[in-house]
Amino acid sequence: MTAPQPNPHSPRVIVISGGTDGMGRALGLARAERGDHVIALGSNPAKGRQLIADADRIGAADRVDFIQVDLSGVEATRRAIRDIAARHQVVDALCLFANRQSPKRTLTPEGLERTFALYYLSRYLLSHELAPLLRRSAAGVIVNVAGVGMDKGSVHWDDLQLERKYSTITAQLQAGRANDLLGVAYAAQPKNPVRYVLYHPGFTKSGDLGPLPAAARLFIRVAATFAARTVEQSIAPVHGFIDNPPSTPLTAIDRDTSLPLTLKTLDPAGAERLAETTQALLAALPSGSAIE
Ligand SMILES: NC(=O)c1ccc[n+]([C@@H]2O[C@H](COP(=O)([O-])OP(=O)(O)OC[C@H]3O[C@@H](n4cnc5c(N)ncnc54)[C@H](OP(=O)(O)O)[C@@H]3O)[C@@H](O)[C@H]2O)c1
Repeated sequence: MTAPQPNPHSPRVIVISGGTDGMGRALGLARAERGDHVIALGSNPAKGRQLIADADRIGAADRVDFIQVDLSGVEATRRAIRDIAARHQVVDALCLFANRQSPKRTLTPEGLERTFALYYLSRYLLSHELAPLLRRSAAGVIVNVAGVGMDKGSVHWDDLQLERKYSTITAQLQAGRANDLLGVAYAAQPKNPVRYVLYHPGFTKSGDLGPLPAAARLFIRVAATFAARTVEQSIAPVHGFIDNPPSTPLTAIDRDTSLPLTLKTLDPAGAERLAETTQALLAALPSGSAIE
């Protein structure tokens, strides 16, 4: 592991969804060690306690907050957003890592397919509803860690909740493509100073394999020994996005390679369509108020 570099900037406030495990957790501890204030979101309170204990060991416990939230819930995600807004006027960086595989099609209490709700919709809500706080930063940036650059999978416009044809991979790929479009639509907003980075970390030695069948777990573990990057390698570019946000509204990076924004997975018409569809879907849910 490389030694943490001192933060050359004034301390940042960084919200990390999925900040209790894998890449999000490593990023949070590294940023807290550099002097930033980290708010980590995760569903498992034991992982939250462990994160604070590990922050304490590096002398950064007072710079790490844990918010327990099941991000597959719309209202739960909005409660976490309100909690963040009650504690902070400004957010400098929002880093989106939370995801979990669902081998069976499962509905959230709000009636949404879980992978869609967790991997895509929570990122939509955090991106848009933390925008007032991000806009107050001198260099606000959102880093959406998913699978930009992959062209497999698609948004199933006529079956977004995958009622007709569900598989773990179909759901993961749909949400991945939806996150690509989320970045495109977000960056297209007029007078928006917040930078959006779509980042694909590549195969990494992280990820909760618990929900997967035993054979799949074994295969991925063996493959990871030979082919996966370390967590530190995969999060290294994220430090750069936080410290020096790109000058353009949207950036797409697959590992170390900049991707052209002309990729068909970054289609502006599809992005606009998904934004409208998402707004309609949210409006149809019984909902709490978003922050102003
Ligand atoms: N690892 C790879 O090879 C790889 C490759 C390409 C892309 N990616 C993408 O990179 C991102 C991070 O991956 P990772 O490997 O670091 O994942 P990870 O180790 O499995 O960590 C996932 C994080 O998400 C949180 N989370 C899961 N379900 C949640 C829920 N319902 N509510 C709130 N938080 C929840 C987990 O916390 P709790 O357990 O506390 O809920 C954990 O902090 C993901 O979007 C993944 O798709 C990963």
